[in-house]
Amino acid sequence: MMEFRRGKTGSLKGSARGRDAVAVLLSEAELAAAEVPSGPLAGFEARLVALSPEATPDAATLGWARAIVIETDGKTPEGWERLTNAIRALSPLPVIAALREPTHGETRQCMHLGAVDVIALPLGLDELQQALGQARQRMSAGAAPSEDSHGRVIAFVKSVGGVGATALATQMGCLLAAREGVAGRETCLLDLDLQFGNAALYLGLSPTLSVADVIAAGARADGALLRSTTTEHPSGLHVVAAPPDIIPLESVSAEQMSDILDLARQEFSNVLVDLPGSWTNWSLSLVARADAVCLITEMSIPSLRQARRQLDMLASQDLGDLPIYVIVNRHERGFLKSIKTDEAEQALNHSIAATISNDFRTLSAAIDQGVPVSDIKMKTRLEKDMSAMIDMLLTHIEQRE
Ligand SMILES: Nc1ncnc2c1ncn2[C@@H]1O[C@H](COP(=O)(O)OP(=O)(O)O)[C@@H](O)[C@H]1O
Ligand SMILES: [Mg+2]
Repeated sequence: MMEFRRGKTGSLKGSARGRDAVAVLLSEAELAAAEVPSGPLAGFEARLVALSPEATPDAATLGWARAIVIETDGKTPEGWERLTNAIRALSPLPVIAALREPTHGETRQCMHLGAVDVIALPLGLDELQQALGQARQRMSAGAAPSEDSHGRVIAFVKSVGGVGATALATQMGCLLAAREGVAGRETCLLDLDLQFGNAALYLGLSPTLSVADVIAAGARADGALLRSTTTEHPSGLHVVAAPPDIIPLESVSAEQMSDILDLARQEFSNVLVDLPGSWTNWSLSLVARADAVCLITEMSIPSLRQARRQLDMLASQDLGDLPIYVIVNRHERGFLKSIKTDEAEQALNHSIAATISNDFRTLSAAIDQGVPVSDIKMKTRLEKDMSAMIDMLLTHIEQRE
C-alpha cells in the first residue's frame, strides 16, 4: 500500500503551483531517517511516500509525479527485481535509485537497469537536489528517445550496378533480423534505390506501400507511419520497399531522406539501407550518417576501378574518414582467382574488409523463392561469409560506440 507522508499539499496534480512533483518512495525505516524537504528542490516539489520494500509502485496512483526516487535493496536479487519492475512500470518517468552505501558495482547495475541516477540513503537533501537537477536536464533534453535507443545504420553502395549490393543487403538483412530477433531487437531494410530498387522482389514480398508513401506524408510522417509502410519477411526483416514507379532521384531532398532515416532509426535497432548506383546530394548525406558503409565490388579490373573512383569521390567530399568497408562479392578461391587481394588493395588504395563467395546457384534460387540462402542449402560457404561479415561489422560498430 502506498500512503502519503509529507509534502502532500493541496491538489495532487503534477504541477501544484506550476512546479513538478517528484515522488520519493521509501520504507518506514528510511522515512524515519530521511531529511524532510521544506521547499522546492531543483524546481521539484518532493513528496515522501511510504511504500513497503516488497511492493512494486503503482503507476496509476503516481500519475501526478514527473520523476521518481525509489528505495532499492542492492544486496538481494529481489531488490534488483523490484527496481527492474518499477522502472518498467513507471516508464518513461525518470527513476532515481536510492541505496544504502551504494558500491560502484551496484551503481553501475542501477544505471544498466535504466535508472537515471543513484543516491545514497539515508535521504539527504543536497544529494537529492543534485540528482533532481540531472533528471530535469534529461527531461528538457526532450521527449526524444535517448541516443542509445537509436538504431545503427549500415549503408550499401556498389562499385557498379549488378555487383550484388541488393542480394547482400537482403540476405544479410534476413540473417541479422533472425539473430537480433532473439534479443528482441528489430531490423529494417530501407530500399532507397528509388529508381531500380528490387529488395522486396528479392525477398518475395509484394508490398502495397513504399518509401514513396513516407516521402509523400512529408512532415506528417512519424514512426507509426513508417512502420505501416513496412512488410515483414518471415525471417523477421521489416522491409520498406522502393517506389513502384520510377521517380527522379533529385525530386527528394537531403532533409526529407534524412528525416526518414531518423524515423527508421527511432523504430528499429538495425537499419540497412540500399542506395542508388548514382550519387546525389541526399545519398551522400545519408552515407555520412551511417555507422558502416559497405562498398560492394567484384574482383575484376572494371569493378575495382569503379570502386576506386567511388572511394576517391567520397574522399573529395571530405567523407574519406567514414567507416567504409570494401566487400569483394562473388569471390573465387584457388585457381579461379584472377586478382590477388593485395594487388586489389593496392589498386583501391584501401583495405578489403571481407570477401563473399561466388555461389550463383544457391543465391539465385534463394532470390527466386524470396528466402534466405539457408532455406535452399544449409551451411554454404556463402552463408558463412555473410555471417562473418555481419560479425565483423557489428564488432567494429560496437568498438566505435
Ligand atoms: N555472391 C554471389 N554469388 C553469385 N551470384 C551473386 C552473388 N551476389 C550477387 N549475385 C547475383 O548478382 C546479380 C545482381 O545482384 P544485385 O544484388 O541485384 O546487384 P546490385 O544491387 O548491386 O545492382 C543477382 O542476380 C545475384 O543473383
Ligand atoms: Mg540493387
